[in-house]
Amino acid sequence: MNTKNTKETIVAGIRTSGKLHIGNYLGALKNFIELSEDNTKQCYFFIADLHALTTPFEPKELSQNILDVTATYLALGLNPDKCVFFPQSQVGEHAFLSWIFNCLLPLPELERMTQYKDKAKQHKANINAGLLTYPALMAADILIYKGRAVPVGEDQVQHVELARIVARKFNNRFGQTFPEPKTYLQKPLRIMSLSDPNKKMSKTGDESLLLDDSPEEISRKLKKAVTASEPGKKSPGEENLMLLLTHFGSKEQITYFADAQNSGTLKYSELKENLARDISEYFEQFREKKQELLARPEFLAEVLAQGASKAAGAARETIFEVKQKIGLI
Ligand code: TRP
Repeated sequence: MNTKNTKETIVAGIRTSGKLHIGNYLGALKNFIELSEDNTKQCYFFIADLHALTTPFEPKELSQNILDVTATYLALGLNPDKCVFFPQSQVGEHAFLSWIFNCLLPLPELERMTQYKDKAKQHKANINAGLLTYPALMAADILIYKGRAVPVGEDQVQHVELARIVARKFNNRFGQTFPEPKTYLQKPLRIMSLSDPNKKMSKTGDESLLLDDSPEEISRKLKKAVTASEPGKKSPGEENLMLLLTHFGSKEQITYFADAQNSGTLKYSELKENLARDISEYFEQFREKKQELLARPEFLAEVLAQGASKAAGAARETIFEVKQKIGLI
């Protein structure tokens, strides 16, 4: 049986930048791993290292980040035999297709992208052309595998919409070639900052629980987590800790603390201690595995190279078809 046509193709890019926190894990990484285990889906997960070049970067950090992200995904349980996992830059066809798309996309379509406008403001000294054509590369990432579903967060919805626009333009002009990909919106899960529970957790300082944090760090940060509330209002910090408990705690703990919450006898110190233990245990194997993997950079490089060679097969087929359709061959 030809399974290639019966599976739903899922495509997602992984950012290389920075440390991953528990919000990233629950909001994205965990779903990626679940998707890759689903036999009805063919997943392409790649490290978006070409996109990383659009904002300031250091070569040494970039290569280290690529290995770090790779080790993180593998240590969390992503099985490279069940999906296609590779660095974008190792499949040159992505950049090739993005050029074709650049030539199809009217400038105003790119200029209206909110991410472009935000980043241009943020990096005034480096508004490079890549920043503007970022979504054309992203459309190429998706369409080169004829992706139908794209698991992204809300901030990337506009880019997936642009991929649909490009697909439609190409199909109208050159004949049906690409499906119009849909956003596979990740459940909006808002893990909040520990130090300011009114804003989302980001990767800085003590507001964030990083996947790499040691048990001591986890416990230290949780101890400091803000739980104060305005008179008569629910404590947003408390809600956040309870939300974490639903993900990392046992059924008994969840019931125990929910009861305490309802009867007004909840002790924050007890909740925080329990959470610290649960989260540390949850990521214990991960931490060990990741260290083992980071000590074997050649192995990581080999996993990525194998993924890239699988991806390249599919990518070349699409490029051949595209070249024929547009008259390059
Ligand atoms: N732009 C995405 C982000 O910032 C990463 C990305 C690049 C991506 N190419 C993609 C996501 C293709 C989905 C599909 O998160």
